Amino acid sequence: MDLFQKVVNNMGPLGQLADVGYGYYYFPKLEGEISNHMTFRGKPVLVWSLNNYLGLANHPEVRQADAEAAARFGMGSPMGARMMSGQTKYHEQLEHELASYERKESAYLLNYGYMGMVSIIDSLLDRHDVVVYDSESHACILDGLRLHIGKRFVYPHNDMERFEAQLKHARKAADLSGGGILVITEGVFGMPGDLGNLKGIVAFKEKYGFRLLVDDAHGFGTMGKSGAGTSEEQGVMDGVDLYFGTFAKAMAGIGGFVATQKPIIKALTFKMRSQIFAKSLPMPMVMGALKRMELIRNHPELREKLWTIVTALQKGLREKGFDIGKTQSPVTPVFLKGTVQEATQVVADLRENHGIFCSMVIYPVVPKGVIMLRLIPTSAHTLEDVKITIDAFSEVRTKLTEGKYSKDTFPPVADKY
Ligand SMILES: Cc1ncc(COP(=O)(O)O)c(C=O)c1O
Repeated sequence: MDLFQKVVNNMGPLGQLADVGYGYYYFPKLEGEISNHMTFRGKPVLVWSLNNYLGLANHPEVRQADAEAAARFGMGSPMGARMMSGQTKYHEQLEHELASYERKESAYLLNYGYMGMVSIIDSLLDRHDVVVYDSESHACILDGLRLHIGKRFVYPHNDMERFEAQLKHARKAADLSGGGILVITEGVFGMPGDLGNLKGIVAFKEKYGFRLLVDDAHGFGTMGKSGAGTSEEQGVMDGVDLYFGTFAKAMAGIGGFVATQKPIIKALTFKMRSQIFAKSLPMPMVMGALKRMELIRNHPELREKLWTIVTALQKGLREKGFDIGKTQSPVTPVFLKGTVQEATQVVADLRENHGIFCSMVIYPVVPKGVIMLRLIPTSAHTLEDVKITIDAFSEVRTKLTEGKYSKDTFPPVADKY
């Protein structure tokens, strides 16, 4: 078999709609400044698919800080990896601020959360160590685990009984090998929006002796009284040994960080291959992140506004009988029943006739026959946006249950690849 032929024949689960949905469901081009109102294919749309939780992407002070840093330093600065020639006092300052925000001793910046998470896992573990992790963990955790040659035990999403059962296996395995145990979960699970049971997990620490790593990509800046994340929300900041956040969501930037004890950060900085062998975060990202941190710390009203919109949207959807699962965070899934084809027609109807842009999740990410529309409320949205959206969702749901969308054809919306 020719390798290229094989690759083309099997484009993976996400490639299934490549020909019918390129440029529309996948790789759509949203145009205009980042906000609740943007343009899609020349038409204005109300956008619910950006993780711009606190509305910082287009905040005037953020835009100014980003632009000034780009003008002062250029995008190329600093040149080189942190370890060799890419270290600056601003990188260190941002790390100090992140550590203090997370009430940890120390923090280290990551170029892209994804790459960082892979390397955190890789750096912490050797073949004697054992991992216990949630079955719905993000791809960056699963890919980090691919590098781990020791034992691993997965537990069904948030199932604390099975978690303890797996911990028992892990304890036995670690005692035999002489290794340690790392438990990994997300804080806010990015697809369904429910929270990792951090409190429940932390309660087992004493009995089984493990370290806890939490990926709080969606919780950083949005959850907890001061926005410090899901660990703050659940009152277990001390119980989380390693806190991981990304700048890709509430911070509306690029990059991420890990916060933990100082000696562990010291070890990670000498071991994380994706950071040692890759260029340092550019200065505009770092200066821009400092400005974002200042706003997050000093303007709780940004988070309050976010939660006003979240509450209105989730309450409104529930009142209209929509199934929004178990979300406890801003992430708002709406579960409907239908075929993949119907899902594509619903989304096209929402975009073309109601001017509403949201993301669609279909089989195999969700079970066959389930359509998940995912809404991300932000502090840039208004209560009027919420009302328009709930009304539109009610209309498309009626059409869906009345069988008005074709069950077996896709709307002709794709761009030519
Ligand atoms: C749960 C979770 N972890 C990690 C990441 C990766 O972060 P980044 O975009 O900074 O690479 C994401 C997505 O962005 C995410 O949703």
